[in-house]
Amino acid sequence: MRGRTRMCDRARVDNFVETNRAHWDERAAAHADSPDYALEQYVKDPSFLSDVVRFDLPLLGDVAGLRGVHLQCHIGTDTLSLARLGATMSGLDFSSESLTHARRLAELTETPIHYVQSDVYQATDVLPAGEFDFVFTGVGALCWLPSIDRWAEVVSALLAPGGRLFIREGHPMLWAVDEARTDGVVVGYPYFETTEPLVDDDDGTYVATDATFTQNVTASWNHGIGETINALIRHGLRVTSLVEHDSVPWDALPGQMTKIADGEWQLSDKPERLAHTFTLQATKDAAGAQS
Ligand SMILES: C[S@@+](CC[C@H](N)C(=O)[O-])C[C@H]1O[C@@H](n2cnc3c(N)ncnc32)[C@H](O)[C@@H]1O
Repeated sequence: MRGRTRMCDRARVDNFVETNRAHWDERAAAHADSPDYALEQYVKDPSFLSDVVRFDLPLLGDVAGLRGVHLQCHIGTDTLSLARLGATMSGLDFSSESLTHARRLAELTETPIHYVQSDVYQATDVLPAGEFDFVFTGVGALCWLPSIDRWAEVVSALLAPGGRLFIREGHPMLWAVDEARTDGVVVGYPYFETTEPLVDDDDGTYVATDATFTQNVTASWNHGIGETINALIRHGLRVTSLVEHDSVPWDALPGQMTKIADGEWQLSDKPERLAHTFTLQATKDAAGAQS
């Protein structure tokens, strides 16, 4: 994410869902063509898994035989990877262009995956409530949602009793850092959830591509770790694990990060200063949601 600027022209984001959807629709084809998503690898090698899911494996454990749903699945590389681990997968995204590429990849690899188009907040209109053994969410998802409480409500509604949320996400402390400052780690943006979004105008994207873009405005929100945990608790989930990581799967602070192993990046100088990402797991008690 480059060139983040907070704009005052609220008219440009009055319909933030449509604004963000246009952004993701436009980037989907470029992402599918990018060597960083490496779609051809999944077709060539039936055991190939995304870097993201490979990173997750030690904490994720065995998902074989489980019914999973991947929220904000984008072009489906992580969804396919979870299916390759033996889960029966559904994927949800509001970007029809992203889903076109996700479905094509599933077809090319002959993997049955149920993809649905929906805003996260309307997930139970298109997916069965209370039937999933796990809800999976990957990095770069929560920041597009204005309310972490409404997200937690949806997660809880989708899970079967005893089902589990697994999320690895950019750490809210990392999202609060001003990536335009290359002279050090400077906190420039909210850590806590705000009513007003941060509005970016960025003609780039987070993978290598020669594509040019015109749908560059986005609205995003940060959500503090405590806000996320308490939202899950409010909606009947029991937090079972929170692990903070000193790496992130893209060059989040250009000029200040070094690529390390397995597609991960980390601060070049004293990476122990900053939690880069976190993995949070929570279980829906057999009794179900409390709210
Ligand atoms: C950064 S991408 C996720 C990247 C994913 N972890 C991956 O590497 O493939 C964010 C995705 O969230 C989706 N998205 C954003 N806001 C959404 C919403 N309100 N409802 C559903 N999907 C949304 C976008 O369409 C996009 O595909």
